[in-house]
Amino acid sequence: MSLLELTDVNGYYGNSHVLFDLDLAVDRNEVIALLGRNGAGKTTTLRTVTGTIPRRQGGLTFDGTDISHDSVDEISNRGIKLVPEERRVFPTLTVHENMQVARDMTSGTEPRPVEEMYEIFPVLDELRENRGRNLSGGEQQMLSVARALIQSPDLLLLDEPTEGLAPVIVDDLYDVLSEVVEQDVTVLITEQNVDFALDLAERAYIIDKGSNAWDGTVAELEQRADLLDEYLSVGAVE
Ligand SMILES: Nc1ncnc2c1ncn2[C@@H]1O[C@H](COP(=O)(O)OP(=O)(O)OP(=O)(O)O)[C@@H](O)[C@H]1O
Ligand SMILES: [Mg+2]
Repeated sequence: MSLLELTDVNGYYGNSHVLFDLDLAVDRNEVIALLGRNGAGKTTTLRTVTGTIPRRQGGLTFDGTDISHDSVDEISNRGIKLVPEERRVFPTLTVHENMQVARDMTSGTEPRPVEEMYEIFPVLDELRENRGRNLSGGEQQMLSVARALIQSPDLLLLDEPTEGLAPVIVDDLYDVLSEVVEQDVTVLITEQNVDFALDLAERAYIIDKGSNAWDGTVAELEQRADLLDEYLSVGAVE
């Protein structure tokens, strides 16, 4: 049984129908990449899982339980945490306070000690007393991931974590995330940076215009320059 399962999911913003009969399954401890062009429906797919899309239809189960009628809070309390595209950091609080707030707001799961996060994110350890607004984009992204991780998610949803980051920061984030995925956490990651996502993931889904276009292992996808070309407008993966 998959940890997360979407079956024939349709998603809507008002009268605009943007997801069409989408199927997706994530097994426990798997890292799945969700790929597709701008506007393909990646963020919307994550929103159908967190319940923040205005309207959705179709099957949605988590750990075998139907969550399709759960509220946003109920879904979060089940251990599904999202790091959104726009980073969620409190600008006037320090790094340490940002962590403490995330820990104290945890509900439904047992939070991890703040000190554990500094071990995973040594960059943040050095910035404990710095305010959120004074962090670079990369540091804010690290803090956003740390804030989600401190809540011990069963399923971590990462929406384009590398967006807008300098290449050297992307490398740092990669090191951190590769450590994170070694732990007891299941990850669904969307990326325009295909290499980044495929280096982390074991399987991938490609969506195009709100529909399933392809899914399979990363090893298979790496042999399919045609798919990358057709659906992602990038050349072959190195
Ligand atoms: N709040 C909204 N209201 C109306 N339409 C929306 C809204 N958000 C997204 N859409 C539309 O839904 C479709 C899917 O958008 P979505 O944000 O899921 O794409 P995406 O794959 O995440 O793209 P990107 O790579 O640019 O982040 C697009 O056609 C988009 O214009
Ligand atoms: Mg998006």
